[in-house]
Amino acid sequence: MPGTCVIGLQWGDEAKGKLVDLLTERNDLVVRYQGGANAGHTVVAGGEKYKLSLIPSGIFNPRVQCVIAGGVVVNPPTLIQEIDGLLARNIKIDSNLLISDRAHVILPWHFIEDRAMNEGTADGEAIGTTQRGIGPCYRDKVGRSYAVRLGDLYRDSIGPRVERIVAVKRQVLAGLADVAELDAAKILAEYRRYAERLRPHVTDTTTLLLDALEGNKRVLFEGAQGALLDVDHGTFPFVTSSNSSGVGVCNGAGVPARYVNRVLGVVKAYCTRVGGGPFPTEQDNATGQHIRDRGNEYGTVTKRPRRCGWFDAVAARYTARLSGADSLAVMLLDVLSQLDEINVCTAYEINGRRTANFPSHVDDLRCAKPVYETLKGWKQEITDVRRIEDLPANARAYLDRLSQLVGRPVEVVSVGPDREQTMFAKL
Ligand code: IMP
Repeated sequence: MPGTCVIGLQWGDEAKGKLVDLLTERNDLVVRYQGGANAGHTVVAGGEKYKLSLIPSGIFNPRVQCVIAGGVVVNPPTLIQEIDGLLARNIKIDSNLLISDRAHVILPWHFIEDRAMNEGTADGEAIGTTQRGIGPCYRDKVGRSYAVRLGDLYRDSIGPRVERIVAVKRQVLAGLADVAELDAAKILAEYRRYAERLRPHVTDTTTLLLDALEGNKRVLFEGAQGALLDVDHGTFPFVTSSNSSGVGVCNGAGVPARYVNRVLGVVKAYCTRVGGGPFPTEQDNATGQHIRDRGNEYGTVTKRPRRCGWFDAVAARYTARLSGADSLAVMLLDVLSQLDEINVCTAYEINGRRTANFPSHVDDLRCAKPVYETLKGWKQEITDVRRIEDLPANARAYLDRLSQLVGRPVEVVSVGPDREQTMFAKL
């Protein structure tokens, strides 16, 4: 049973970091395989709170090999800062952290492009990116001619290569942004320093992972963002630039599908979204604020207030199927305590037609009216509950209904940020 993955089934921020930290004990390797420092994973370990962007959440277990695979886009200064921050707090980081030489490097022009082109999509509404250069770096990766991979930084050819890219970027970006800061020699010197600092960690992780899986090692794949932000299968164009649903594990990590044997789909007990794009169950009202306040729904990376709303079972059923989820982890159930009633979206009405299928076009999603089923809330606080059977009856009924609507059993329930506040069902 070598490969397990943890996939967010909503728009990200489903508290995957906590789960990965918990599941790390049962694995030999933990792998980040897509996205970059747009992700923010919060882990509470040993009573201390850590915020990770690029480093896998398995890093708190020194026995485990952590891998940043080739599908990730790496911003070297952020990664170095993250490494230094953890070292300063006595977390072991040496050969237990390996980074793919195939990973693409985010460079200063990518930040300029993310700022300059984030005003709006061609239709007007902005994607509202995290401004971390993620989309522009992936664009250059697919465009190939002006991309830099981590392994390139150690080759003699990197000097002329950066000079050529800077010359082209200055021309292309001149009408959009101030490009005066793009100085090839300065950038080169800076990124050579970063490369030297990261050198002990950089290797061919594809071979490493294939060796591990063929040798029956247990590998945990840590998804970033959520399946609804998947560039191919999410709410395009209001998505991130990588395959953040379960289908992205293989191409991001460089492993064949046969090794992904178990998929844990992670949802919040409600829904949130950061940035632009349609969100049918959004509650831009007192209920949304109640959820935001109780769930502390502010971005880990950007601190933006998250948009909050009811659980959308149409979306979650779609992403559970898309990602091949075997079971569900329902996180932040405690946030819903104190509500008299809780709504769950069971279908959409789109142009007068009712459907339980998630639409493929953003315009249909934009005009989708959620059809709600109303369940009774519970008034007790549940953060101290340690067994699923000890939850209030209405909370259990809520979980049962989510499971039924999504079509997957609930395996994990979380009622707070600490490891102890996690309950496992016997499936
Ligand atoms: P980008 O990934 O910075 O290009 O942003 C694209 C969209 O994905 C924006 O709506 C972001 O708010 C969203 N996004 C990116 N990363 C995350 C995340 O880790 N959690 C939640 N939303 C995210």
